[in-house]
Amino acid sequence: MDEEQIREFSEKLSERIASLEDRNDKLLETARRVEGEKRYVETELIRLQKEIKRLKQELDRLKSPPLIIGNVRDILADGRVVVKSSTGPDFIVNAADYIAKENLLVGARVALNKQTLAVMGVLPPSYDPIVTGAEIIEKPDATYSEIGGLDQQILELKEAVEDPLLKPDLYRKVGIEPPKGVLLVGPPGTGKTLLAKAVANRTKASFIRFVGSELVQKYIGEGARLVRELFELARKKAPSIVFIDELDSVGAKRLEVATSGDREVQRTLMQLLAELDGFNPLGDVKIIGATNRPDILDDALLRPGRFDRIIEIPVPSYEGRLSILRIHTRKMSLTPDVDFEAVAQRTDGATGADLKAMCTEAGMFAIREDRDSVTTADFELAVDKVLGESRIRHETASGAMYA
Ligand SMILES: Nc1ncnc2c1ncn2[C@@H]1O[C@H](COP(=O)(O)OP(=O)(O)OP(=O)(O)O)[C@@H](O)[C@H]1O
Ligand SMILES: [Mg+2]
Repeated sequence: MDEEQIREFSEKLSERIASLEDRNDKLLETARRVEGEKRYVETELIRLQKEIKRLKQELDRLKSPPLIIGNVRDILADGRVVVKSSTGPDFIVNAADYIAKENLLVGARVALNKQTLAVMGVLPPSYDPIVTGAEIIEKPDATYSEIGGLDQQILELKEAVEDPLLKPDLYRKVGIEPPKGVLLVGPPGTGKTLLAKAVANRTKASFIRFVGSELVQKYIGEGARLVRELFELARKKAPSIVFIDELDSVGAKRLEVATSGDREVQRTLMQLLAELDGFNPLGDVKIIGATNRPDILDDALLRPGRFDRIIEIPVPSYEGRLSILRIHTRKMSLTPDVDFEAVAQRTDGATGADLKAMCTEAGMFAIREDRDSVTTADFELAVDKVLGESRIRHETASGAMYA
């Protein structure tokens, strides 16, 4: 082999080596890719298997026969249970092993197998959605500082509601029973609801609010049941405060002549009285009622031991009006000439709600004229407007009608 041939040969060889290395790289690359794909497919497989399992379970759940709801009537010595289903007769049945025996009590609501009526589970007691809806989870944002002219009333409410909840021992030592229920009475718009909301905000107790008219139901016995469930919830959530607004709608005097609707309202009232009697005044459930018609309330409600502390919420005095005006103008921009004292002087007899309306109206007058602050003239107009409106309200209330 001469030199020429050797060179040619080695050139070819190195070319070949290069191409093989190239090819090797590509194959390695492919191998890596395929390896990756394999791993992906494997995880996908596991995911899908889980999905299948989940769907199968879901299918089983959907195909499982319905359970019947019943109530436990009695527990027999041998562990069997007497249940009453909604369908009629009582049955003696067995209970599933996994049910905790301490939950299986007489009166408990249970789920029963459809065929054998065996007890499959214990359900939580049912409350009417109206009742559970009455519990306030978020605290209302009203505070005592937003209430003007009612310092004395705030103090009384604190003594009657907050202190017995916070310092029951003190009452025990002194040897008196704190009031059980507090009734806020006063004309419309004087801040009764506001006051109750402020209490809710202040205390750490759970607050259960109800409007009296919600307790008046269509069917016989429904209202009484709601009252019972309401107080049951209050006891369960203790320490708690039950607030019944517009109490007069359930608490009106009982009359001799009554329609069946009246009788249903009276039944609700009687249940309310019974619940009020059932409370220990030093216990941790307090009751606040509010009404603007104390004159029509049934005397039984006002008896000591029930709503025995009556806090009167008066129409604000001159000083009261002044501080209410200051509260409602806190966030308003006013020109320096605005004279609250003059406004307060002119508005004898106006309620907190009227005064609030005046502040809003004054602001409206300013906006109407494209100004960004409120002047004394705006307040003059607003006072005229609101006082005029309340005069119309009073006249129509006393019989005058629009032609
Ligand atoms: N003393 C007050 N201080 C500040 N604002 C008040 C006061 N009284 C009433 N208001 C204003 O009037 C509004 C209405 O008051 P609220 O709803 O508390 O009246 P009420 O006494 O419950 O009336 P009703 O008997 O008609 O239910 C409140 O939201 C508040 O803005
Ligand atoms: Mg109210």
